[in-house]
Amino acid sequence: MTRIQIIMGTTRTGRFSERVAPWAVQRLKDRGFEVELVDLRDYPLPFFDQKPPSVTLRDYPTPEVARLGRKLDEAEGFVILTGEYNHGYPAVLKNAMDHTFIEWRRKPVAFIGWGGVGGARAIEQLREVAVEFEMAPMRHAVHILPEDIRPAMKSKDPGDFSVFERIEPKLAALAEGLEWWARTLSAGRAD
Ligand SMILES: Cc1cc2nc3c(=O)[nH]c(=O)nc-3n(C[C@H](O)[C@H](O)[C@H](O)COP(=O)(O)O)c2cc1C
Repeated sequence: MTRIQIIMGTTRTGRFSERVAPWAVQRLKDRGFEVELVDLRDYPLPFFDQKPPSVTLRDYPTPEVARLGRKLDEAEGFVILTGEYNHGYPAVLKNAMDHTFIEWRRKPVAFIGWGGVGGARAIEQLREVAVEFEMAPMRHAVHILPEDIRPAMKSKDPGDFSVFERIEPKLAALAEGLEWWARTLSAGRAD
């Protein structure tokens, strides 16, 4: 089974990622992945002020960074859940990424975003960041638009996935690509 992690890239009070995460976890499990949710709230880190992790690799400067690094190491691929803040990705997500490097390298990453344009600007920027990590960013993404966000905010039941019905085919395309890349790059890394 392909082991992926879903990274909750927003941590603010009242975050919409809380609505998206249970749906993404369930649907990707339904598609045969072994899924773990990694909530950045559980990995609080100071603003990055260390030597470059692309140089220090797994020589972790603090136990907190080691905890995140060892967790990310377990994944064969990632799905990043991201809101859009001022036309960019959340700083908390970039800070966590900057604290690490090798753990992401040569693995695929797919994106689920939301906002006025479905998080498209944040996701496009994250694809560029991913390339610097030598990751394979997936073409297929899920963009959750205001017309999907509104019913999801109204529905009080976080287990009510019917609100995301319209975007299910997008998640299916994302999953298909992610599975191939995760399997293929896992084999490549093992060589
Ligand atoms: C500081 C801030 C800046 C935002 N800027 C944008 C933006 O540039 N584009 C957009 O579509 N939505 C923007 N929004 C709205 C967010 O997309 C929306 O609040 C979303 O739910 C954020 O994800 P979260 O709830 O998981 O934190 C912004 C929200 C915040 C809090």
